[in-house]
Amino acid sequence: MFQAGEEGVTSDLLPLIMAVAGEGRIEEEIYLTSFLWEEAKHVEFFRRWLDDVAVARGDLEHYLTLSYRQLFLIELPSALNALKTDPSVETQIRSRAAERDPPHRARRKPAHPLWSFSP
Ligand SMILES: [Fe+2]
Repeated sequence: MFQAGEEGVTSDLLPLIMAVAGEGRIEEEIYLTSFLWEEAKHVEFFRRWLDDVAVARGDLEHYLTLSYRQLFLIELPSALNALKTDPSVETQIRSRAAERDPPHRARRKPAHPLWSFSP
């Protein structure tokens, strides 16, 4: 589930970056883009670890619980994707509450190429 969390942050964070950039909040934009870059590196690192050390190359989806799926596959992406059409402060607050430290809570998106089998 840790790997899934890294992938989820990497995949879902962009709408928040676009919202703060649209408001000209450069310091937050710099922070969030750096954060996104770091999370993307974590995706690659943990995928390589799973492949080469743990030899866990199959689909790991069966490790995800129902509550995990609801929170990280539905609620969190929904909160962040809402920013694409409504970048208001209220929507940003909802997205940040949902996004708060998720990389290490582990979540994933189905059929993500890095999550699925890697040759
Ligand atoms: Fe991370």
